[in-house]
Amino acid sequence: TTPLLIDTDPGVDDALALLMAFNDPRHSVVGLTVAAGNVGLRHTVANALKLCEVAGVDVPVFAGCASPLLHPARDAAYVHGQDGFGDVGYAPAVRGAEAEHAALAILRLSHEHAGQLLLVALGPLTNIALALRLDPTLPQRIARIVVMGGAVSAHGNITAAAEFNIAFDPEAAHIVFSAFPKIELVDWEAVIAHGLLHTQVDEWLRADSPRARFYDDISRQTRAWSAERRGERWHSADALAMAYALAPGGTLKLVERPVVVELDGRHTRGATVVDWQRQMGGHDNAAILMRYEQVRFERMIQAALAAC
Ligand code: BDR
Ligand code: CA
Repeated sequence: TTPLLIDTDPGVDDALALLMAFNDPRHSVVGLTVAAGNVGLRHTVANALKLCEVAGVDVPVFAGCASPLLHPARDAAYVHGQDGFGDVGYAPAVRGAEAEHAALAILRLSHEHAGQLLLVALGPLTNIALALRLDPTLPQRIARIVVMGGAVSAHGNITAAAEFNIAFDPEAAHIVFSAFPKIELVDWEAVIAHGLLHTQVDEWLRADSPRARFYDDISRQTRAWSAERRGERWHSADALAMAYALAPGGTLKLVERPVVVELDGRHTRGATVVDWQRQMGGHDNAAILMRYEQVRFERMIQAALAAC
């Protein structure tokens, strides 16, 4: 099995992605490194621990950065709930986080699984950027890095031009995009193109399993929010990134181009600028997912929710 390290800020869609990872027999999750993002670090860590408990998995959880590298945080509690998990008032997990900082755990695990590790980033890139500053040789030991983030045609979700994970900590994203030779990028526009029918999701959530019941609870608020604003399809960003990361086959389309992160723009800070015409002289540091097999994506979600 392939060792899988997930950097995350749970977050309702993070939670679905984690359930998909736990359910994949070809990957073993070696750790969850957690950052602030959707909500503050205290909540994202508690949510990661709770999800592991509900799923019955014993994956170590490492707390990481509580704020972006430079600028104050702007969270997404209005989407995910004040606690990031729909404010259902769940009982906290019994187990606590490990003592080791997430950035140090990333480095240690990259050594333990050198050349094999699949790193999937589902939140702001603060922990990974910090790890890179501590040890710039990190990319040499990573087999693949998949990032959920960005908006490749500047169709943002948190601002007109920027996607949440990148806009939350643009400096961290800049460090990560400058360091890895090839980032497999699942951006917000791919997510929009792979929406899930609410009626279908409702059906999957009726599965008789503790995972489905818990997920039904914590996602109810955000699904209603989304149905009201965005219509009949739900956009589960981190779930799409995880589906692609776990099963990068079938009829998919990837396009390789140089991508840089805008740090200064007045209206565009945090935008991912794709050099479509290759005019800026950079190398193709991103493989952008343009199309993924919808049936494959949906089967993975259904199976992850039904699993016991
Ligand atoms: C991303 O932002 C977060 O709110 C989600 O968890 C996802 O990682 C989508 O823009
Ligand atoms: Ca996330």
